[in-house]
Amino acid sequence: MEKNIAVLSGDGIGPEVIAQALKVLSAIEAKFNHKFNTRFGSVGAVAIDLTGDPLPQETLDICMESDAVLFGAIGHPKYDNDPSAPVRPEQGLLRLRKSLGLFANVRPVTTYQTLLSLSPLKEEKIKGVDFVIYRELTGGIYFGEKGRKDDMAYDHCVYSREEIARITILAFEAARLRRKKVTLVDKANVLETSRLWRDEVKKIAVQYPDVELDFLFVDNAAMQIIQFPSQFDVMLTENMFGDILSDEASVITGSMGLLPSASVGSKTSLYEPIHGSYPQATGLDIANPMATILSAAMMLDSFGLHIEADLIRESVTQLLESGYGTAELQLANNCKCSEIGDMIAAKITAS
Ligand code: IPM
Ligand code: MN
Repeated sequence: MEKNIAVLSGDGIGPEVIAQALKVLSAIEAKFNHKFNTRFGSVGAVAIDLTGDPLPQETLDICMESDAVLFGAIGHPKYDNDPSAPVRPEQGLLRLRKSLGLFANVRPVTTYQTLLSLSPLKEEKIKGVDFVIYRELTGGIYFGEKGRKDDMAYDHCVYSREEIARITILAFEAARLRRKKVTLVDKANVLETSRLWRDEVKKIAVQYPDVELDFLFVDNAAMQIIQFPSQFDVMLTENMFGDILSDEASVITGSMGLLPSASVGSKTSLYEPIHGSYPQATGLDIANPMATILSAAMMLDSFGLHIEADLIRESVTQLLESGYGTAELQLANNCKCSEIGDMIAAKITAS
């Protein structure tokens, strides 16, 4: 199989973790006789420094012309506490989502037996937790009209039935292949947009009689993720709630550095680790590349290359089980970021 992949390493540890995913993809290429053509584009703070724009047109063109985008991380501390910054790295990512029509962010929340003790929750609560968040990604308060008037500021939250329907269908289809349960998280006791979500989701649910649908208000959902996370199978929610809850859900596994994500669009989809740019670790070769490597596996799944994707996942699990990981995992053998990439690639080659 031949595929074109846009590689956007971005900021902070982005380039280091992406380099490891590329080693792993090369090993897959050689073993299975595929051809992955990579084209690199700049994005984020790095792109602002180079061009003044966090998403230069050239980068967007590369993405548009590719079959998938592999993304590192975005963000730089020099912008975080500066509300007056005229351009911000995050604008690049938001524009990329909108331009590629990446309307669904898919974040699996999985646990690893060997890492359960790292969870901030008691082991019996986190054991066996396996759910996936479907977060709407191109609507809601993120993209509604925003502005300032005198001493006020506003961000409008707007949703159309169409925007709700397309991600809801993906969530139900996913539930069908899993434990057949969708939980819609909203604030329907207060927000009109949430009431539209409930209405539309209920309508679609009729076509999935084999899938159970339940509802949770977002404040309650935030508690339930901590108290009883194993109840969830597919969690479906709007953009802002999904942003917050997916970060909460990622830390309860204790292994945030292992969680991948996919942002699915009508044509080209994007794959990225859920962690950020971790500026303090930049260039130190200590970041965990596993989330990015597992994001590459999700990308291969989207190409229909399931055997290859499974081989990557198995290699990661085996490495952990034999006691190798980056330092924050506190396993028997502390490895550098680059060593993890080498070891996973070697496992694939030797398998
Ligand atoms: C995420 C990030 C982004 C978001 C930022 C970087 C704009 O937090 O992917 O969850 O808020 O969507
Ligand atoms: Mn976020």
